[in-house]
Order: sequence, then structure tokens, then C-alpha cells
Amino acid sequence: MFKKSLIAVAAASMLTLTACGGTGSAAGNAGSDKVTMGFAQVGAESGWRTANTKSVQESAKTAGIDLKFSDAQQKQENQIKAIRSYIQQKVSVIAFSPVVESGWDTVLKEAKTAKIPVILTDRAVDSSDKSLYKTFIGSDFVEEGKKAGDWLVNDSKSASGAVNIVEIQGTTGSAPANDRKKGFADAIQADPKLKIIASQSGDFTRSGGKQVMEAFLKNNPKIDVVFAHNDDEGLGAIEAIEAAGKVPGKDIKIITIDAVKDGMTALSNGKINYIVECSPMLGDQLMDLAKKVVAGESVPERVVTKETTFTQEQAKQVLASRPY
Ligand code: AHR
Repeated sequence: MFKKSLIAVAAASMLTLTACGGTGSAAGNAGSDKVTMGFAQVGAESGWRTANTKSVQESAKTAGIDLKFSDAQQKQENQIKAIRSYIQQKVSVIAFSPVVESGWDTVLKEAKTAKIPVILTDRAVDSSDKSLYKTFIGSDFVEEGKKAGDWLVNDSKSASGAVNIVEIQGTTGSAPANDRKKGFADAIQADPKLKIIASQSGDFTRSGGKQVMEAFLKNNPKIDVVFAHNDDEGLGAIEAIEAAGKVPGKDIKIITIDAVKDGMTALSNGKINYIVECSPMLGDQLMDLAKKVVAGESVPERVVTKETTFTQEQAKQVLASRPY
């Protein structure tokens, strides 16, 4: 008799626990306490992006979050469609990495009306209404551009004449392209010898970087430095430089951002001169934030990723242990 009532009490308290673990979002996952996340990824444009997707998928599994994942193939309209479908499916939380900065207010208002919290990951939106998303986790892209520029200012101290720089920008209108451009331009103002003589988008891809660099080489007889907004563009530029009979890293110096394995390999081999790290490993922090947001707990408005920089010597030391 006593045993039976103990079992009944235990069963009742388990039920209470389950009920208390609710989603905190009116629309979220009616009838179940499992957190469901709709994640609208940018695409698969770069080594960074592939590592980021893996991080998000693995962390969701570990955190017990049911992940619905979509790849927008670098198109804003595909991301908007994916977000609308997550709203219809009444997921507990939406996370996305906006391909470009502008044009999100309408769909974010739809999510807000449906009471589904939104988390920005990796890239920002330019919306002035901060109530449209709960938090933004990712790098400080202006700072990354600045670190790249600061290295060049220091490296060019002994140069006598003008230092001609070509810039291969990321996706036009994206936060990393806008911010890295700004950070770099601000930093190189410290030395009037440093001049950006051409700047064009390579869309964060290897093929884009190669094409843009081929055109730069054709139109500019003296190029001293390439500043590529990511490793993949820099790796494409290396192919174009070698095809033109020049030595990357020596005849033309190369600075990139990301520090993925292929980039770090080229840095160790002397084909890239300096890499500013941008970490794609956002999954664990994103899942923590998602659980908090769904539970109605407060989260910081902005979570900035910790990052470093790599010289050729430093790359040689860490290459073997680089996880992505
Ligand atoms: O938004 C992060 C940037 O996007 C990474 O630097 C780049 O590799 C990616 O495609």
C-alpha cells in the first residue's frame, strides 16, 4: 500500500516537472516540451560556413533540440521563405544568419506576432527595432577588418613607395563585407602610403575570389597586397596569382579572415601572410541561448565571439590541432 502511494507521488511530481518545463512561447511546440529550432542558414559558400553548419547540427543533437535546417543558397528570398515556413510550423525558436543586412523587418514582425522568438547568429540585420530579435551572437566584423589593417600598417613600415592594395569583398550588402571593409579602411588611414586601388565582391567563394583576382591582375600592373574578406576568396586569389606567374605571399602579400584548415595550410606554406580568425563554432552557445529564450529567461542583447590572429609561424604551430 505504502509502496503504491510512493509510486503515485513520484509519477505526479514527474508530470509537474514536465509541465513546468514549458516553452514560454505562445506558439512554440504546442503539446510538447521539446525545444524545436528552425535554423535558416545562408548557404554552403565557404569552408567557414560548412564548419558552422556542422557546429549547429552537432550542438543541437547534444542539447536535445529538435533542429529544422534549411540552406538558402545565398539568396535572401529563400531565407525569408524558410522563416515563414518555421512560423507556420510553430517552432519554439527561430535562428538565422542573415545573408544581407537589410530587408528583414516584415518577416521578423510576422515572427513577433506569432510570438516566436528570433536569435540572430553570425550576421547582423540593420533593423532599428531591436525588439524584433532576442539576441545576436557572432563576431565583431569591424574589429576583424581593423586587425587585418593594423597588421598591414605594421608590416609596411619600411616600404618606401606606395603600397597598392586590392580588396576582394564578401557578399555585397552582408554585414561581414560592410564591416570588414570599414574596419580595414579605418586602420590603414594611419599610413598614407597604403592605397586601395581596386575593390570588388567575390561573394565569399573560392571561384569568386579567383575571378576577381584575375581581373585585378589584368587591369593593374602593380599589386602589392590582397585583402580578401575570407579565406576562400584568398585561396581563389592564390590560384589566379600563380597562373599569372607570380608568387603569392612574396610578390603579392595576402591577408584573409576566417582561419579554416585550408587557409591555415596556405598560411603555414607561406602563400598567405596573415589571417584574422573568425570562429564558426557558434553551436553550443546558440543552443544555450535558445533554451533560455524559450524558457522566457533574459539573455544578453549581444554575445561577441572570442577570436585571435595568426602569423605564418603561429599557423605552423597550431595547424595539426585545428578542428575545422
Ligand atoms: O559571416 C561569416 C562569413 O561568411 C565568413 O567569414 C565567411 O567565410 C562566410 O561565408
